[in-house]
Amino acid sequence: MKKQIRIFDTTLRDGEQAPGFSMNKQEKLQLALQLEKLGVDVMEAGFPICSDGDFESVREIARHVTQSTVAGLARANRKDIDRAWQALKPAAKPRIHTFIATSDIHLKHKLNKTRAEVFEAAVQAVRYAKSLCEDVEFSAEDASRTDPDFLCEVFEAVIEAGATVVNVPDTVGYAMPWEFGELIARIRVQVPNIDEAQLSVHCHNDIGMAAANSLMAVRNGADQVECTINGIGERAGNASLEEVVMALRTRAQAFGRQTGIQTELLYPTSRMLTEITGVKVQPNKAIVGENAFAHEAGIHQDGMLKNPLNYEIMKPEEVGVPESRIVLGKHSGRNALNSHLRRLGYSFTPKELDVVYRNFSKLTDNKKIITDSDLIYLSNNGVTEMGAQFVHESIQNLFYR
Ligand code: KIV
Ligand code: ZN
Repeated sequence: MKKQIRIFDTTLRDGEQAPGFSMNKQEKLQLALQLEKLGVDVMEAGFPICSDGDFESVREIARHVTQSTVAGLARANRKDIDRAWQALKPAAKPRIHTFIATSDIHLKHKLNKTRAEVFEAAVQAVRYAKSLCEDVEFSAEDASRTDPDFLCEVFEAVIEAGATVVNVPDTVGYAMPWEFGELIARIRVQVPNIDEAQLSVHCHNDIGMAAANSLMAVRNGADQVECTINGIGERAGNASLEEVVMALRTRAQAFGRQTGIQTELLYPTSRMLTEITGVKVQPNKAIVGENAFAHEAGIHQDGMLKNPLNYEIMKPEEVGVPESRIVLGKHSGRNALNSHLRRLGYSFTPKELDVVYRNFSKLTDNKKIITDSDLIYLSNNGVTEMGAQFVHESIQNLFYR
């Protein structure tokens, strides 16, 4: 039995706070119920002190979600923690998530506090949160730019004060995978009571390392990964849930870890988020992009038709994508064209196929997306040399006039 990595989804908090991704209460609840079906261990429902709307959304989610833990964010002060607890109280499994920055950069330029003051605020916040709620997560904001010795001292003290989870955010997406892995390994060794809490990571994607950093953390002893659907989040976003989960599954031998995610719901969940927010994912986005299982190059299409193993490391149905798409375009070969024509009910001799293919190539020089109607037009009109001439002329008329 492989060790379980807990998936903490923060689409509704870190994701939602990014420009263009705000959701109303109803939309948040709809997504929360989908995240519960998806099997996330924890969902961060919002930041209740932020606004009345956020408070109401967290409370509504806390009332309805029963399987996943519901977390609410709070800065390391009593007012934030009280507000978070008011919103979370109805949850079957509530978690207060409190945080304070620990890096010298943030201490000097943001908080204007000494290390001793931050240390004390962290311990007091965790102790107070623990008096309200059994499950308390502490995050050391900007942990990857924090003096590691200081970070370890803070973690030891907050675990002593009752933290059930300590989280290591790469808040500004600065860490490189090997550095982040080393930091997690060091915390495992240097914090004497670390086994009394879960060790979590929260990576941002400013230089595109969020998923890689999260995976290096898993290899070095992290128990929980914080991530978002479609990788949405502050600035360049957070680690993408679907990338982390599918890396752990597809390369299970390399990690020896598993998650409780129902992977066949990844694509439907991604689609739900884009429909709610109106923000599409880029077509080449790993796992859930429109082209993630689409093949256009002739050599790839031929390989796919012979055996999908040639060019696909995951089955599309594993992530809920209905099927791989052999997309016809200017790089497609005869074999792929013939397979599409057969699907449409056409059966041509090799000579007829040559004629159709010639016109098809002319069409793809001028048209990016070839539809079934284009194929039907080519097939119905152009299997003889005379027909081909007619089709060729109509393509010329369409595009060169
Ligand atoms: O990026 C970050 O540091 C955060 C914390 C609040 C966990 O989002
Ligand atoms: Zn964050």
